Amino acid sequence: MIKDKKIVVTGGAGFIGSNIVHDIYEGNEVTVIDDLSTGNLENIIGLVEKESIKQVKGSITDLKLLQETFSDADFVLHQAAIPSVPRSIKNPIATNKANIDGTLNVLVAARDCNVEKVVFASSSSVYGDTPTLPKIENMCPSPLSPYAITKLCGENYCRIFYEIYGLRTTSLRYFNVYGPMQNPKSEYAAVVPKFISSTIRGNPIEIYGDGEQTRDFTFVEDVVNANLLSCVSKKSDGKILNIAGGKRISINELALKIMKILGKEVEIIYRERREGDVKDSLADISLAKNLIDYAPSYSFDKGLDKAIEYFKKTNFEL
Ligand SMILES: NC(=O)c1ccc[n+]([C@@H]2O[C@H](COP(=O)([O-])OP(=O)(O)OC[C@H]3O[C@@H](n4cnc5c(N)ncnc54)[C@H](O)[C@@H]3O)[C@@H](O)[C@H]2O)c1
Repeated sequence: MIKDKKIVVTGGAGFIGSNIVHDIYEGNEVTVIDDLSTGNLENIIGLVEKESIKQVKGSITDLKLLQETFSDADFVLHQAAIPSVPRSIKNPIATNKANIDGTLNVLVAARDCNVEKVVFASSSSVYGDTPTLPKIENMCPSPLSPYAITKLCGENYCRIFYEIYGLRTTSLRYFNVYGPMQNPKSEYAAVVPKFISSTIRGNPIEIYGDGEQTRDFTFVEDVVNANLLSCVSKKSDGKILNIAGGKRISINELALKIMKILGKEVEIIYRERREGDVKDSLADISLAKNLIDYAPSYSFDKGLDKAIEYFKKTNFEL
C-alpha cells in the first residue's frame, strides 16, 4: 500500500510496532525508535542485522533525538508508550512522561521536520465504563486510569497540532489488540497470550472479576492496516477513529475457546476485579470504514487460530 517512503515507527520493537515494521520494511526506508522499556529487540533483530531497517535506541522524551530521527521522514507511526493501566496506577508520573511528554515531543519534532503525517496509537480505554454500547467516537470520554488520561491527552494534542500547525494527524483508538509477537507477560490487553501461555503450560487461567466482562478483540494485522490506510487518507486528518474487530466476546468465552483449540483443559481461577478495568467494550467502526475504508479482515476465530499457531511454533518465552 505504501512504497518508497521514509517511515519512522516509534515503539517499533514492541508488539504492535514490530508487526507494522515487518509489514512495511520491504520497499520503504524504515527507522525504529524505541527505548526497549517494554519492547523486545528480538521482534526486529533479524531486520536490524540484515540492515533492512535502522534501529535507534532512545526515548521519545528526547526531543533532539526525535528531530534527528524524523529528518526527511514522510510518516511517523507513533506506537511508543508505557501501555499498561496497572503500571499507570502504580506510577502515574512515569506514564505521563512517556505518553504525554513523549507524544508532545513526537508532534513537535514531526512539525519541525515537515513530516507528511503522524498516526497516533490511542486506546479504547478513553471511553471508560460508560454503559452505552457500541462506543462511538463522539461520545463523551470518561477515562478511569492515568493511562487512559494520557491517551485522551495525546488525541487532543494530535487534533490541535493539525488545527494550529497543519500537521496531518490521525488518532486510532485500538480495542484490545492480540496476535503474533505479543508479550504474554505484559500486563495490559495481554489476556489472549496470557491464556494461551497458561493453557500450553498446563497452568491455571486467572480471570479478574467474574469473567462476564466483554472485549472487542482486534487482530494485529487489522491494526497495521489501519495505520497504513490512515497515512494515505486525507479524510482522516485531525480525526479520531475506533479500530476494532467489531464484535464482543466475554473473557470466559475466550478461555473456553483457547482450551478448545489447544485441546487441553486447565483450571480457571477467579480473582478480584482490577481497578481501572472496564466492564464491557464494543466499537462502532463505521467512521473508520467511511474515512479510511477500514474493515477488519480477521474474524475472532481466524485471528485466534493464527495467534495460537504463532505461540505454538515460536521459541518466545511463554
Ligand atoms: N495492545 C493493545 O491492545 C493496545 C490497545 C490500545 C492501545 N495500545 C497502544 O498501542 C501502542 C503499542 O502497544 P503495544 O501493545 O505494542 O505495547 P508494547 O509495550 O509491546 O510496545 C510499546 C513500545 O514502546 C516502547 N516505549 C515505551 N516507552 C518509550 C519511550 N519513552 N521511548 C521510546 N520507546 C518507548 C516500548 O519499549 C515498546 O517497544 C501503545 O501506544 C499502546 O498504548 C495498545
